[in-house]
Amino acid sequence: MRILGIETSCDETAAAVVEDGLHIRSSVVASQMVTHGKYGGVVPELASREHLRAIVVVVREALETASCTLDDCDAVAVTEGPGLVGSLLVGITYAKALCFARKIPLIGVNHIEGHIHAVIMEARAGGNPVEYPALALVASGGHTHLFEVKETGQYRLLGRTRDDAAGEAFDKVAKLLGFGYPGGPIIDQLAPHGNPDGVAFSPTRMKGNPLDFSFSGLKTAVLRWVEQHGMSEEIAARRQLLRAQPNPNIDDWLRVTPKATLNLLASFQYTVVRELLNRALLAAEQISAASVIVAGGVACNSGLRQAAARAPFGCPVLFPTPALSTDNAAMIAAAAFPKLYRSEFANWDLKPRANLTLA
Ligand code: KG4
Ligand code: ZN
Repeated sequence: MRILGIETSCDETAAAVVEDGLHIRSSVVASQMVTHGKYGGVVPELASREHLRAIVVVVREALETASCTLDDCDAVAVTEGPGLVGSLLVGITYAKALCFARKIPLIGVNHIEGHIHAVIMEARAGGNPVEYPALALVASGGHTHLFEVKETGQYRLLGRTRDDAAGEAFDKVAKLLGFGYPGGPIIDQLAPHGNPDGVAFSPTRMKGNPLDFSFSGLKTAVLRWVEQHGMSEEIAARRQLLRAQPNPNIDDWLRVTPKATLNLLASFQYTVVRELLNRALLAAEQISAASVIVAGGVACNSGLRQAAARAPFGCPVLFPTPALSTDNAAMIAAAAFPKLYRSEFANWDLKPRANLTLA
């Protein structure tokens, strides 16, 4: 069974061919980082235009790399939400056109379910399938959620962010300090050069559900720190670096980042990781998790990976490989596989659902 997956929910145009929900025959991702980088975040209008430009080429490349044609595919799976409406619309419309022309079934996939399936797929491929019930921590630029995964396809929401997503907090803090977009990978590389105890950020206490997250207070605390420490010159130097060189490397950033700022970054990352893991530990205990899945772009974070490996979960903690952590279409094709099995097909009225939830 072969599925062509298409993902256009945010700022990556992606297509992939996956066999039996397991074997990735191709996975092509066209990033729009250069387009959005200079604005310090995703500009929705530009994102849809870039998807329109890239989608035909990306799908063709995915099929060619997998040495197959559309006629060899049993279904086309496409992200239906959550995400940016204009971006989702490009993928959905193209997927519908392919299915209509070739008379193959169309499957709508929830993007968050896709992130979780990146881990489920890799665990199966590695011969150690995920054990259920699993706790899933999905942390990306758009989402920060904790789910109980009772079995494949059965989710219960345990907690979610009430404001910014974890990746969004990385991106906003990086932007505030004059670094490029996306901020997560830059902070991740700079944090080991600073002292995580350098700046003390207090833990966020949630009223109501203790498994909910909030990152806006931390973002404001970083802003206050910046205001109190007269950082305008170094921030201007970094913005200047970005104008001169759209993609600075770690050494370039280190040249314009004093030790005190590296300490700030290390402390910020340490705090985000602590917030994520403390709630994940609590949730895993609550559901007696047999395994923990960490997914989404923030799962790339090396501080999170190291801390999760040391945390007392008492069960395996599974991370996707970096290429499957950030947005890609292999995860969409993988999540569609059980739906193909159950003949859960979408109709022609499939629409983008910007606020689609998983549970
Ligand atoms: O999953 P993803 O590609 O897109 C969404 O579904 O949102 O995640 C992108 C997010 C961005 O906010 C980016 O800054 C963050 O993931 N990210 C990271 C790292 N790599 C990507 N955050 C922290 N550390 C990283 N290494
Ligand atoms: Zn994502």
